[in-house]
Amino acid sequence: MFGVLIRIDSVTKRYPDGTVAVDRLSLEIPDRSITVLVGPSGCGKTTTLRMINRMVEPSAGTILLDGADIRQRPVNDLRRSMGYVIQHAGLFQHRTIVDNIATVPRLLGRSKSEARARARELMERVGLDASLARRYPYQLSGGQQQRVGVARALAADPPVLLMDEPFSAVDPVVRKGLQDELLRLQDELGKTIVFVTHDIDEAVKLGTMVAVLRTGGRLAQFAPPAELLSNPADPFVEDFLGADRGIRRLSFFSSAGLELLTTPVVAIDATAEQIAARSTSGTPYLLVTGVDGKPLGWAEPHDLTAGQVRPERLLPCGRPFAAGTDSLRAALDCAVLSPTGWAVAVDGEGRAAGVVSQQSIAEAIRGAHARDTKPVRAEAAQRAAR
Ligand SMILES: Nc1ncnc2c1ncn2[C@@H]1O[C@H](COP(=O)(O)OP(=O)(O)OP(=O)(O)O)[C@@H](O)[C@H]1O
Ligand SMILES: [Mg+2]
Repeated sequence: MFGVLIRIDSVTKRYPDGTVAVDRLSLEIPDRSITVLVGPSGCGKTTTLRMINRMVEPSAGTILLDGADIRQRPVNDLRRSMGYVIQHAGLFQHRTIVDNIATVPRLLGRSKSEARARARELMERVGLDASLARRYPYQLSGGQQQRVGVARALAADPPVLLMDEPFSAVDPVVRKGLQDELLRLQDELGKTIVFVTHDIDEAVKLGTMVAVLRTGGRLAQFAPPAELLSNPADPFVEDFLGADRGIRRLSFFSSAGLELLTTPVVAIDATAEQIAARSTSGTPYLLVTGVDGKPLGWAEPHDLTAGQVRPERLLPCGRPFAAGTDSLRAALDCAVLSPTGWAVAVDGEGRAAGVVSQQSIAEAIRGAHARDTKPVRAEAAQRAAR
């Protein structure tokens, strides 16, 4: 699937005062994907990241980029191939947004107008309105500044992006937006990203591979997020993953296999015969839809009289899940929140695709676990996890 772009081979970093920040770390960082380094404060994440672009030199071991020892490359070349994004973005406060982003193209010898054109293109890429170009960093929100930081790191179109807790200084809502944006960008650009965080949820959401480090700079586990959740290597990793591990793992299973029932779905203009035909003993409730097919709410069959169905009298059907594209976690959540215990599935247009009971979701979960001890990361299921 991916090639290895960066190979960290038994690398140790001992700072002059004797602190061992990283201890015989070996990692194979795959090409064109996001590898997350996660772990408690002081476990050596930043040190590891900085060894990759030689801002810090290892005390022992080697780091290979595309098969070649990074020490054999001129350091400026190496850094040019690696965009670097840090917390608070680290922008030049006295330069406008457009000139912050244009810095690297300028350094690479582009003319001012070329560099600015490139900067404006990148602003659009990362979701920044063109009207912000002439502002200074202090005139932007934290989230916007972070986007500028990402745009600036992308300016030289480097194959590698190193990101050190880039989103940890913003509030949870903005942070979610930035994470979604990064995943979208990554789909478009296919960079090799090494992303540092101490937030395990961020790691699980963003990582193709996640390296959990423990204090002392030792690797505790290196695995895709779904595997971390299902098979934590030891009590430290399990503890670090926190509560609801089982539920969170369901985010990696698609709802595509759920058997949706369409019999208990009636349109609001259904005739008495249609209502009667759809009232089977297995389903205590009927889902009523509008004439456009969109779900309106639940009713018990004996409460439905043809021609007199009042939407405001129906039991709410809550937020439905997208059939096939959402995860089993999303489907389960809908069922748990539904007053009837049944989840409503909709198609891409929001029309009812069918209904499914908690019990049948539970069976699908058991089936998914049995089929797949290492669940694959379905793109759709991944989206649903966010
Ligand atoms: N220049 C330095 N000299 C001595 N010790 C250092 C130096 N830089 C970092 N350290 C130590 O190395 C260890 C790892 O630091 P590092 O910054 O890599 O951790 P981190 O995982 O990024 O932590 P955080 O989550 O707090 O950012 C820590 O104990 C830190 O105090
Ligand atoms: Mg750090």
